[in-house]
Amino acid sequence: MAKTNYNLSFMLITRCSSVAELNELASEYIIKDLSSRPRSLFCTATGNSPTGIYQLLADKKDRIDPQGLSLIKLDEWYNLPMDHPASCEYYLQQYMIRPLGVSDGNYTGFNSLAKDTAAECKRINDFLTANGPIDICVLGIGLNGHIGFNEPADYLQPHAHLATLSDTSLNHTMIKSSGVEVKYGFTLGVADILQSKKIILPVFGKNKKEIMEQLFEAKISSQLPASVLGLHPDVTVFYCENDS
Ligand code: F6R
Repeated sequence: MAKTNYNLSFMLITRCSSVAELNELASEYIIKDLSSRPRSLFCTATGNSPTGIYQLLADKKDRIDPQGLSLIKLDEWYNLPMDHPASCEYYLQQYMIRPLGVSDGNYTGFNSLAKDTAAECKRINDFLTANGPIDICVLGIGLNGHIGFNEPADYLQPHAHLATLSDTSLNHTMIKSSGVEVKYGFTLGVADILQSKKIILPVFGKNKKEIMEQLFEAKISSQLPASVLGLHPDVTVFYCENDS
């Protein structure tokens, strides 16, 4: 009887001496991966961690075929208008969609103003069932260990859902000064993330040192959602302890 096990080896860690080096290595890693197949589904986090990488991808866009690239947005603040400068949508339009020339038909993401939130999650789940799994997923880690809006909890949710945001998320610089009251966020779930063929986690800065030390203890726990990445066979962490 065949047995299938998850690979419990822990993640590959590339330690970088500067954020510039991190951005360069991660952007080359992504371009190499995108170039290895004619079409890729690329899942993109927003926030500070991947911004420099996305800027380099835009600089190197001649090496990326926009026809072969589909983007899926990892998460979104619920109730924040899509055109609000603090939205994940605005960020991705600014750093990825416009610079790389991704067409509307090649982009999927949660609608922050969806009235029927269950239907909105089903739409994204159906999209992944039809078009997934994700080929390459860029994440960031929150100060509390969240990935996407999968927050520390007694249990984690596998698929797209509306999450109640932690104080850490609500204090994120993206949303704190937005002037809009936000309580929830749409996010892909941990199974959606773990089904990605490759995952990269760029992390930098002194404020991430504590959570990274916890992550490197390799204790897989729903209270530290990023620790589930240890179940995945192809995760690369690009880590710089410095702020620059
Ligand atoms: C944002 C997202 C979040 C961030 C995390 C780290 O789309 O998914 O989980 O990745 O909060 O944010 P930064 O990179 O700003 O420290």
